[in-house]
Amino acid sequence: MFDYDPLDPRVLEDPFPFYRRLRDEAPAYYSKKYNTWFLSRFEDIWAAERDFKHFTIVNGQMPSQILGFEEFDSDQAEVEFGDSPASLDPPRHTHLRAALTSAFRPSAAQALEARTRELVRGFIDEFIDRGEADVVLDLAMRTSVRIASTLIGLPLDMADWFVERVNAMFIRDETGWQRTDDGMAGVLELHAFLAEFIAERRRRGGSSDDAIDRLLNAKIQGESLSDKDCLSTISLLLVGGTETLPKAFSGAVYRLGKHPDQRSACVENPSLVPSAFQEALRMDMPTQMLGRFVAKTWEIHGQSLEPGQGVLFLWASANRDDREFPDPDRFDIQRQAPRILTFGAGPHMCLGAHVARMEGEVMLQELLARVPEYELLMDDAVQMRSEVFRGYVSLPIRFPTT
Ligand code: HEM
Repeated sequence: MFDYDPLDPRVLEDPFPFYRRLRDEAPAYYSKKYNTWFLSRFEDIWAAERDFKHFTIVNGQMPSQILGFEEFDSDQAEVEFGDSPASLDPPRHTHLRAALTSAFRPSAAQALEARTRELVRGFIDEFIDRGEADVVLDLAMRTSVRIASTLIGLPLDMADWFVERVNAMFIRDETGWQRTDDGMAGVLELHAFLAEFIAERRRRGGSSDDAIDRLLNAKIQGESLSDKDCLSTISLLLVGGTETLPKAFSGAVYRLGKHPDQRSACVENPSLVPSAFQEALRMDMPTQMLGRFVAKTWEIHGQSLEPGQGVLFLWASANRDDREFPDPDRFDIQRQAPRILTFGAGPHMCLGAHVARMEGEVMLQELLARVPEYELLMDDAVQMRSEVFRGYVSLPIRFPTT
């Protein structure tokens, strides 16, 4: 039996060979060090994630919480967290989520499409004559933070300030998994701002369609949400809405840069863009893993997962499982995978999935329409590698100007 530790520098550098061995040799891998199970096959994660009777999210879902390591110095962490959809099991989870769902339906995502396209065109106008652009910093981050802020009801003129703080949250020091002091300062500043902003919105009162008013006006099992719960939920929406999409989008730009034939096919036939984005979401899943704790004994592959033990879902592994995807390491925009695990599954499936797809597809359509040919400047690209996220934080491209 080989050793797997998600915090091992070799795993942080390139987890994919480890994922393959886990799938083939130990699909339910137990780590005594962390008292945690790692699931790596598609079908197993698909089943476990939907089973909220056997698995609970209330004691955490981040690798730091499941594995029990401090990703920051707890003396500095004065932030008091409340409840959010990512910290509740049904039925309370169902009620809290219901307060937000209609703002995230496919029809709501569609309603934001024209605004997204206008923003994206404006950002492309700013770099098109330069012949160079950073698809993360000049395009995707600027778009994702503005769409998330619009949905939430946050001031758009603070979008760049939000981006700086959200980015800092996920920068790790040389260990590869511990937050830096700057990162912690970013979390505290962001939370202080959001706490004040929410309190002011509560004082003012309102009944708009944005997430802040929806949460402030919601009754969950007869009771209003506290400011702390609103803060945690808004923070989840802002971080979830800003951070992951640019990594998925730059994954798509990278893959199409490596496969110019498939890129040309998308340029000639833009209706291929949704399946190209779906394939990039599968291959370059930004969130490597999140998890739960076992609530009731669960049997799998002859093993018994016992209450109180941790379980981590290795989504990035599941998306490359050859039991689900033939030739999984091949990028193929014609694949049209019917299911992927990029947005999770079950009750906690990503609330922003429809919005994220819409944003990714609009950015890709607009970029390819204006920049049909480009070269990836990989010497200057920067990848984030941490225990939880993986993807480009900077991906420059060069293209001919007309
Ligand atoms: C490509 C972009 C995105 C990816 C890859 C992604 C991925 C995920 C994943 C893996 C989960 C956890 C699912 C689970 O635990 O079962 C999640 C949850 C969530 N995401 Fe996303 N997300 C993306 C974009 C967004 C956007 C744009 C928003 C909002 C504007 C958003 C809001 C949320 C929220 C609120 C949850 C918690 C849902 C719950 O626990 O009920 N995400 N996302």
